Amino acid sequence: MKITQKVQTELNDNIPKHVAIIMDGNGRWAQKKFLPRVAGHKRGMEVVKTITKSASKLGIKVLTLYAFSTENWKRPQDEVSFLMKLPITFFDKFVPELVEEGIQVRVTGNIAGLPAATQQSVQKAIADTANGTKMILNFALNYGSRDEITQMVQAIATDIAHKKLTIDEIDEKVINQHLQTNFLGELSDPDVLIRTSGEERISNFLLWQIAYSELVFTDTLWPDFNEQIFIELIKEYQKRDRRFGAIKK
Ligand code: FPP
Repeated sequence: MKITQKVQTELNDNIPKHVAIIMDGNGRWAQKKFLPRVAGHKRGMEVVKTITKSASKLGIKVLTLYAFSTENWKRPQDEVSFLMKLPITFFDKFVPELVEEGIQVRVTGNIAGLPAATQQSVQKAIADTANGTKMILNFALNYGSRDEITQMVQAIATDIAHKKLTIDEIDEKVINQHLQTNFLGELSDPDVLIRTSGEERISNFLLWQIAYSELVFTDTLWPDFNEQIFIELIKEYQKRDRRFGAIKK
């Protein structure tokens, strides 16, 4: 099913502004097909393109994709180096299309910890797509929420030590300003967090930002994920009653 006018109308009134996805199951997809794990990541990269376009067509404003966590360095060297080359392949192939679609690439995570070639590719994609206003495609790359929170605490403590801030001034706004998602402003918190592959955990992803996100899980492995399943999950999100701790009027 393509995103027809009908589906768009059906979904139109309550489209989540920020969707975050834990793209899980690449390894299992490959194993099931007796392929090396990296074949799952390669297919997963193609799905990133499909879902990016779907998200933009639906009117989603921020799509945050968990592409590599601070814990993923523990994987075998050949898998890590494949995953580090994937953004280069992806951007080489798709940046012209992203520019055409008005999609702006951003990265959340520790870019400086990536191999030099990956850093260059990421920085170039960010610069080349900087004028995009339709949607932000935010890759969480070398990202870990505890790492982000640790850095936030260090930054706030430094501001206090330098007398730029007092302890009483620390509030949620100040904390948000010191997190890596600050550039997203009022869109920094996902409305919905999707995880594929049947696993139901958060895996150190956006712990502060998902305080009131709706959590939606699917058994589909990421390389099998598609527009139709995406739309079904958005519909599931739309059925949720978001109260943010208040009671219904
Ligand atoms: C989790 O599946 C997936 C990852 C750690 C990598 C995700 C990366 C992509 C989908 C491609 C990213 C594309 C770009 C453009 C950066 P897993 O390997 O943990 O699967 P398993 O649980 O079945 O082993």
